[in-house]
Amino acid sequence: MADPDVMDKLVSLAKRRGYVFQSSEIYGGTGSVWDYGPLGVELKRNIRESWWSRMVLQREDVEGMDSAILMNPKVWEASGHVEGFTDPLVECRTCKKRFRQDQLAQMACGRKPSQAPGEAESCELGEPRLFNLMFRTFMGPVQDDGHTVYLRPETAQGSYVNFLNVQQTARQKVPFGIAQIGKAFRNEITPGNFIFRTREFEQAEMQFFVKPDADDEWFDYWSAERMAWHRSLGIRPDRLRMHEHGPDELAHYAKKAVDVEYHFPFGWKELEGVHNRTDFDLARHQETSGKRLEYIDSGAGERFLPYVIETAVGVDRTLLAVLADAYVEEEVEGETRVLLKLHPRLAPMKAAVFPLVKKDGLPEIARGIVKDLRRAALPAFYDESGSIGRRYRRQDEAGTPWCVTVDGESAEDGTVTVRDRDSLDQVRVPAEGLVEWFRDRLAEADPAS
Ligand code: GAP
Repeated sequence: MADPDVMDKLVSLAKRRGYVFQSSEIYGGTGSVWDYGPLGVELKRNIRESWWSRMVLQREDVEGMDSAILMNPKVWEASGHVEGFTDPLVECRTCKKRFRQDQLAQMACGRKPSQAPGEAESCELGEPRLFNLMFRTFMGPVQDDGHTVYLRPETAQGSYVNFLNVQQTARQKVPFGIAQIGKAFRNEITPGNFIFRTREFEQAEMQFFVKPDADDEWFDYWSAERMAWHRSLGIRPDRLRMHEHGPDELAHYAKKAVDVEYHFPFGWKELEGVHNRTDFDLARHQETSGKRLEYIDSGAGERFLPYVIETAVGVDRTLLAVLADAYVEEEVEGETRVLLKLHPRLAPMKAAVFPLVKKDGLPEIARGIVKDLRRAALPAFYDESGSIGRRYRRQDEAGTPWCVTVDGESAEDGTVTVRDRDSLDQVRVPAEGLVEWFRDRLAEADPAS
């Protein structure tokens, strides 16, 4: 069952704990743009690193790159975005709200066709018109049509126009891939659901170049591989599913597509798209630029334009799925405990360290432990304020998997108590062996890494 209340609770927790803030909040915010706070930026970095490690570092057949956000505008003409990257926009003459026509049908279900889900009692819809989703700006001081450039709406095109640069410099042979993580921008008509659909977001995309007759096989391979990655983040398997696009859903460049979907509190929605883009993009760039983009297979003595299997996931959207999936409310000794059951690999802080009291040398021991953990690349947080119970609750909400308490016994025998966020089990561990202890727990939680 979808539970929209969870979204309100998540947005509020995300702000309270420093995960996500509204952009330019002191000025009343900016339309559907968000900022990541101290914990959010670490969670996002951990998601990115998990993707990069699995898609690039652990493979010999995928190369990384980082192309610029601003590109020659001809790129977007060739790719079809100038002409075709549009949504049908409908405006209501009464409440002045704007809607995407394709979403209107769903939302207005059960109403008279003349009514829209705006605030006015009875909305009066205008004629639909096509609205291009690309943000436009100008390159240089002259602001006219001849100097228009676009903020990229996907990272993919940067990989296509660099296909031969990467293939030749990395001396790759088809099949191989090019991976990128970077910002993309879309002037969405109906952004919303917190960081689910925003106007500025981050994509992690990989373009895999294959022989044209090997496309089906690689499409199946990458669909399964991408689902396996989402599961590796600790996302509950029953909240993930695959959805194959019907002919009316396919993007202009796709022969076949599947979405990895997540059951968000507002329903099943796309997390990632896997597309068979055929040779559409390379052929268009070859034609528009006049430069040959064929791959030369010297062994077989042939040249051809490869087909592309693309995997495209939103980093922010994955972060939302991870947060929503981790959000748990449970009853403990008659009180509600709110916690984020984040996978320890993704958790921004691995440990919080508390002195039981602010005296008898306990704060110094606790600070020493934080320092040692941080030096060992295990982010840890020192907290001495409030009761131990309150300190635990703050860390539960922040998703910190382990809390270390330094008490009188620690000063005598060098041991500390480690409390597990999920099971609430407590064990006594020598402070000196904490780095190893955490490394072992992280390895147990993540056997594949
Ligand atoms: N290059 C192919 C491509 O861009 P897409 O399905 O339009 O495909 C890929 O986008 C992924 O990017 C989506 O599955 C989603 O996770 C993310 N994404 C797309 N638009 C977004 C938006 N407005 N806000 C946040 N994430 C978005």
